[in-house]
Amino acid sequence: MKAYRDLAPSPRIIMTPGPVEVDPRVLRAMSYPVLGQFDPEFTWLMNETMEMLRGVFQTANKWAYPVDGTSRSGIEAVLVSLIEPGDKVLVPIYGRFGFLLAEIARRCGAQVTVMEREWGGVFPQEEIIEGIMRNRPKLVALVHGETSTGRLQPLEGIGRACREQDVLLVVDAVATIGGVEVAVDAWAVDAVIGGTQKCLSIPAGLAPVTYNSRVETILLKRKRIERGLLMEDAEDTKDFVAIRSNYLDLSQLQDYWGPARLNHHTEATTMLYALREGLRLTLEEGLENRFARHARHESALAAGLLGMGLELFGDPSCKMPMVTCVRIPPGVDGESVRTMLLEHFGLEIASSFGPLKGRIWRIGTMGYSCSKRNVLLALGALEAALLRHGVSLPPGEALQAAMDVYAIGSG
Ligand SMILES: Cc1ncc(COP(=O)(O)O)c(C=O)c1O
Repeated sequence: MKAYRDLAPSPRIIMTPGPVEVDPRVLRAMSYPVLGQFDPEFTWLMNETMEMLRGVFQTANKWAYPVDGTSRSGIEAVLVSLIEPGDKVLVPIYGRFGFLLAEIARRCGAQVTVMEREWGGVFPQEEIIEGIMRNRPKLVALVHGETSTGRLQPLEGIGRACREQDVLLVVDAVATIGGVEVAVDAWAVDAVIGGTQKCLSIPAGLAPVTYNSRVETILLKRKRIERGLLMEDAEDTKDFVAIRSNYLDLSQLQDYWGPARLNHHTEATTMLYALREGLRLTLEEGLENRFARHARHESALAAGLLGMGLELFGDPSCKMPMVTCVRIPPGVDGESVRTMLLEHFGLEIASSFGPLKGRIWRIGTMGYSCSKRNVLLALGALEAALLRHGVSLPPGEALQAAMDVYAIGSG
């Protein structure tokens, strides 16, 4: 029999916009014994996780629970559960993940209208509100933090405008939850999808979602209980279109997460331990402290990159604190630099997609990876790699500039 080596992944410094390094306490939580999914000890953990999710989403919504699957499963669950074929959906797009929202909405049968913005900026809120008035959609789907370009879309006014027009607002906060404010209730957002593998520093595999009663009303109208779970020969006579996915049907998932505990999928219990521990750590640090930590390390990183003579990409007025995009200097092979960083320093940064592929690097400062140690290591390593690639830069300036920022912070 072929002998396979022991699994021994190299320790990495992960400075991408996700996945990022996982807090060892989360990894420890994942090593605990599996519980049955209806064991009262486990359902208690489910309830606690819902409570903690409400805290992180800053919401009083009854429903806040994870969908099993990566963040995209949460997006798909919300959209497929809300959209009936022919529904009008408006998607303002300012990067790759806006296109993903439009793509999923189309697959749900929506009549999708998109508004597009050049990559590197966001929309003035009035422009989106005008788009809503013009198109009168059932639903607007929008990315809060666009990791492909490192931009943060302001949302405060959009939710209120949607509410006035009786339009649903669905927000992808996959990259922002736990790193910057996502005030679900204050911003009047109807459904939000968060990500685990970014600012919450939990492995990928669950997609926390929250939604309000406006969403729940639609779900309950479309709800169908699986035939095999019904006690009697109940005939389905409802005249609405059933939710097209079984796995991602939020009306069934909420019955599993709610007091009915109706059987749906088999819960990924180990991932739930990870989510619970990651949320616990987030709340223990405090949301405001966590946001301040992300902002502080972003400042040091940006100062260091500028000190090295590099140019940041995108409109600075809407920059995401947890993703910094840098233009690749002319004549430099961006992939070769990334390979050198990984091979020599065990450090990973990201490239980008579509029109930005080969033009920028994206450096993440998210969750457990968002630390002084990592920022200083990344700057030192990048400087060394660029010098090796023949870039002329002022040696040592980057680290000094970053350390100056840290010195102010600690003074
Ligand atoms: C803003 C945003 N939305 C959605 C996704 C999709 O998430 P996942 O890869 O976890 O399915 C990502 C992943 O990078 C993202 O950055």
